[in-house]
Amino acid sequence: MRFHWCLALFPIVSASAFQLPFKAPFFNSSGQQSRPLARPRVAIIGAGAGGTSAAFWISKAQERFGIDVEVDLYEREPYVGGRSTVVYPYDNTSLPAVELGASIFVKANKNLWRAVDEFNLTRRDFRDETGLGVWDGEKLLFTTTGGWWGWWDSAKVLFRYGFQSPRRTQAFVDSMISKYLTLYSVDTPKWDNLTHLASSLDWTHLVSQTTSEYLKAEGVSDKFIAELVEASTRVNYGQNVDEIHALEGACSMAPTGASAVVGGNFQLFEQFLKRSRANVYLNTSVKSATVASGQWVLDTDRGTETYSAVILAAPWHSTNIQLPAELSSQIPPQPYIHLHVTLFTTTLPSVPAQSFNLPASTKVPPMLLTTFEGARNGGKEPEFNSMSYHGLISEGEWVVKIFSKEPIPQKWLLKMFDGKIGWVHRKEWDAYPVLPPTDSFPNLKLAPGFYYVNSFEPFISTMETETLSSRNVVDMLLKDIFDSGICGLAAPSNDTAKDDYVFGWDC
Ligand SMILES: Cc1cc2nc3c(=O)[nH]c(=O)nc-3n(C[C@H](O)[C@H](O)[C@H](O)COP(=O)(O)OP(=O)(O)OC[C@H]3O[C@@H](n4cnc5c(N)ncnc54)[C@H](O)[C@@H]3O)c2cc1C
Ligand SMILES: *[C@@H]1O[C@H](CO)[C@@H](O)[C@H](O)[C@H]1NC(C)=O
Ligand SMILES: *[C@@H]1O[C@H](CO)[C@@H](O)[C@H](O)[C@H]1NC(C)=O
Ligand SMILES: *[C@@H]1O[C@H](CO)[C@@H](O)[C@H](O)[C@H]1NC(C)=O
Ligand SMILES: *[C@@H]1O[C@H](CO)[C@@H](O)[C@H](O)[C@H]1NC(C)=O
Ligand SMILES: *[C@@H]1O[C@H](CO)[C@@H](O)[C@H](O)[C@H]1NC(C)=O
Ligand SMILES: *[C@@H]1O[C@H](CO)[C@@H](O)[C@H](O)[C@H]1NC(C)=O
Repeated sequence: MRFHWCLALFPIVSASAFQLPFKAPFFNSSGQQSRPLARPRVAIIGAGAGGTSAAFWISKAQERFGIDVEVDLYEREPYVGGRSTVVYPYDNTSLPAVELGASIFVKANKNLWRAVDEFNLTRRDFRDETGLGVWDGEKLLFTTTGGWWGWWDSAKVLFRYGFQSPRRTQAFVDSMISKYLTLYSVDTPKWDNLTHLASSLDWTHLVSQTTSEYLKAEGVSDKFIAELVEASTRVNYGQNVDEIHALEGACSMAPTGASAVVGGNFQLFEQFLKRSRANVYLNTSVKSATVASGQWVLDTDRGTETYSAVILAAPWHSTNIQLPAELSSQIPPQPYIHLHVTLFTTTLPSVPAQSFNLPASTKVPPMLLTTFEGARNGGKEPEFNSMSYHGLISEGEWVVKIFSKEPIPQKWLLKMFDGKIGWVHRKEWDAYPVLPPTDSFPNLKLAPGFYYVNSFEPFISTMETETLSSRNVVDMLLKDIFDSGICGLAAPSNDTAKDDYVFGWDC
């Protein structure tokens, strides 16, 4: 069942099936408050990239326009960061933090890039070690001593794949990024529907085809797609080139300038909250949302609270939150990739060559990506999606990370690393959506006053894009409640000419 008011940016009061949270005007026609009203209250559910940045965007509008609003943020876990969090080898916080979830962002990710600078955090080049190989389950197809980035035009790539395929792929990624960057410009599209966003960015044909279909039609060779492109989609999204849509495929291949925050990316999200004026309730689940007397009523571990608006910033199917059927029926089933992360330390500086049946003199590269091409042709499927060295934790002891579809047995680790395994930490995530080609996306406004940040994930799933989605949602919410966007209604400031102008930060 679809409600036609979902199409509108502003709630249409009379068309609603139930009472609207914003029935009472907050301002009279002269723009002044007509009668003392309770402060509007907004609830945010989830303290990941999406929820913490939503609190931050609201506080930016508060700074700018003195908007009077109270914000409560609920997080079921006892920590801030969601799918972005760290662990310490041997649980020793004197040792370098290791990312357990989201690890990299790139320069084109202007919100996170900017946040690192404004919050005085330190970026580091993600490249801990250089050298890369592609494993097909039975043999190492390709190795290079270069890093993951800038590999496209290395001599080895040109020798194996020719000139055209890397060049055409690079052109594809570059054109995707240049469109993507308009999302930070003063003319950024503001979307009420992701299908509309896809078409305004001219990406409809990307989300409606698989990565391999798209690249084949562009004249990229089967071999290049099956090896290097698939290596990228498998390490980033645990999906093969003939499964994942071409937009997310392009994102997988855009690691130029890959960076991480020293000490952990979660600090960005802690800082978003610290700089917001939100009340933060950790270790507190939201159990249901209902509408009563035109307000949203949340039932939480702390009891029942009433809000003018709710921002849901978690994948709904994983939240256990009961929603009215009118809302839940608008969120299509969304499977996620169930990913096993295995972190461990070893005293071996690289995987022994014999573990991969290679001559003893071979040095196995510190980053191993994989292709499904062997399995597609009847061979053995790789045991992992990726296996990578992430630097020293102390003299002579390295930390290694494996992503895999299935658990990695301890016996296998010991065999591969000749028994030289120290600390081991395992984590299972519902990491990212399964991302097949599609022509429809979940709604982002599920009802008047109820906004869904993670509607963006089946389009693109990254930390940064969750901050973009929350910016769009907050902009919509502020228009709905205060008749003012995130940057107000005034003409844009003169800063728009700045090279590093970022919409929402600079306005
Ligand atoms: C292993 C791994 C590697 C990744 N690598 C990258 C990468 O390199 N770069 C990148 O950009 N992205 C990466 N991602 C994806 C990235 O982590 C996500 O896209 C992003 O962090 C999602 O942010 P979010 O705020 O939307 O959701 P989440 O981070 O999932 O936050 C949602 C929060 O809501 C909370 N919550 C859920 N239900 C309730 C409830 N009922 N009540 C209260 N709180 C609730 C959850 O506990 C959670 O903290 C990776 C993900 C994984 C798992
Ligand atoms: C989004 O836009 C598409 C194309 O205009 C339309 O078919 C679809 O119904 C819209 N979805 C919603 C939820 O408004
Ligand atoms: C709007 O509200 C202000 C403050 O209460 C009041 O002074 C003003 O007269 C109101 N204007 C109208 C048109 O109602
Ligand atoms: C979280 O809540 C549970 C019970 O609800 C409690 O046992 C636990 O100590 C809390 N943890 C933190 C870190 O607050
Ligand atoms: C933690 O690591 C530091 C730095 O290597 C070391 O000096 C210290 O002894 C370790 N602590 C424990 C409890 O092992
Ligand atoms: C960041 O560091 C600079 C220089 O040390 C300092 O002037 C500035 O106030 C700091 N900003 C924040 C937000 O802490
Ligand atoms: C913007 O620039 C124009 C022309 O340079 C100037 O007249 C105007 O005052 C500036 N506005 C602001 C807000 O600085």
